[in-house]
Amino acid sequence: MRNWRWVFTMLLYVGVVLKIGALELGRAQQTERISGSAGDVLEDDPVGRLKVFVYELPSKYNKKILQKDPRCLTHMFAAEIYMHRFLLSSPVRTLNPEEADWFYTPVYTTCDLTPNGLPLPFKSPRMMRSAIQLISSNWPYWNRTEGADHFFIVPHDFGACFHYLEEKAIERGILHLLQRATLVQTFGQRNHVCLKDGSITVPPYAPPQKMQSHLIPPNTPRSIFVYFRGLFYDVGNDPEGGYYARGARAAVWENFKDNPLFDISTEHPTTYYEDMQRAIFCLCPLGWAPWSPRLVEAVIFGCIPVIIADDIVLPFADAIPWEDIGVFVAEKDVSNLDTILTSINPEVILRKQRLLANPSMKQAMLFPQPAQPGDAFHQILNGLARKLPHDRSVYLKRGEKVLNWTRGPVGDQKPW
Ligand SMILES: *[C@@H]1O[C@H](CO)[C@@H](O)[C@H](O)[C@H]1NC(C)=O
Ligand SMILES: *[C@@H]1O[C@H](CO)[C@@H](O)[C@H](O)[C@H]1NC(C)=O
Repeated sequence: MRNWRWVFTMLLYVGVVLKIGALELGRAQQTERISGSAGDVLEDDPVGRLKVFVYELPSKYNKKILQKDPRCLTHMFAAEIYMHRFLLSSPVRTLNPEEADWFYTPVYTTCDLTPNGLPLPFKSPRMMRSAIQLISSNWPYWNRTEGADHFFIVPHDFGACFHYLEEKAIERGILHLLQRATLVQTFGQRNHVCLKDGSITVPPYAPPQKMQSHLIPPNTPRSIFVYFRGLFYDVGNDPEGGYYARGARAAVWENFKDNPLFDISTEHPTTYYEDMQRAIFCLCPLGWAPWSPRLVEAVIFGCIPVIIADDIVLPFADAIPWEDIGVFVAEKDVSNLDTILTSINPEVILRKQRLLANPSMKQAMLFPQPAQPGDAFHQILNGLARKLPHDRSVYLKRGEKVLNWTRGPVGDQKPW
């Protein structure tokens, strides 16, 4: 009895998939924008709306570190390097600090990789602290606000908490000297000590050329209903289970490993990017952190992101209409994922696909070389411009001090 019902439901689901595939075929080139709301902000031109002064630092804070390990140009935190290069030649750059709205300190704090290419954040606090000490003694601008008109790129797992394990990151908290600065970071979760108010959440870096080279014809039917490649368990770091991804990925596997609508596996095929372009829904569950590069990949490849990460703060959330593009599923509802996704009206799916097809959505997710209008670099500048003018209260009285230079672990205070 149960089996029959299962087969029947299956047929119904497959029918829906085919119907969507067919509808999509006929409308492949259609895009849609949300006018008069968030969607339009993506096309703002930051030039003329802000001026940025780039501090010149000794190369031991940036170029030398990169020379030691060129892999820093391709990992998911590489935006810190590209943002520096971008600003050096950007028309928003000013060489006159007196007229600057924002100050930028080019430190490559994620460029310290294990032999396997995983970024280690252990030296970051020392390096950051040392760089701040340097700019505060060589220029008068830091002391004027103690950093409130300075921004920093901190794309690590838990931003300026500088640890890749959440517990440890929370214990450390945001590096004290960065308390007043604006942080541009990948990590985004509401009510978390590692995300402070006013931060700008950005997408992780994903290689634009590589993704572009895997594009398939846009009218290819989407014959995969749900797609996911990645870990379900992290046995090495979470042997008992339940801690990694707060159990959400494990729940995906246990509930849907045998469900024919779910194309999910730990194996990473060479056709990974192509497969995403053949899928309707791409799962973007949290891992150790709430975000992953899948979110960028899903948008680029027009696969509706199914975001499973309670309280996630998404990249450029004040400019990108995530609610319209994606599907949000609470972590506790993962076991109903099949019902949730199959009961979405095909018209709703088509609308999300049209919004995703909008080039400005894709552009905002990427850090291309050279930069292009509307890309992630421009979105960061737009975000900084929207925070202007600075409130007068950020300027300290002569001799006034708010930050405590000796706070934090003693190890962080060694010179760089
Ligand atoms: C800024 O303040 C620090 C610490 O209070 C001090 O050592 C430094 O000399 C000041 N910088 C300038 C340019 O006056
Ligand atoms: C600064 O921090 C250090 C270390 O936590 C602490 O001992 C000291 O009392 C603090 N200074 C002020 C003025 O709060």
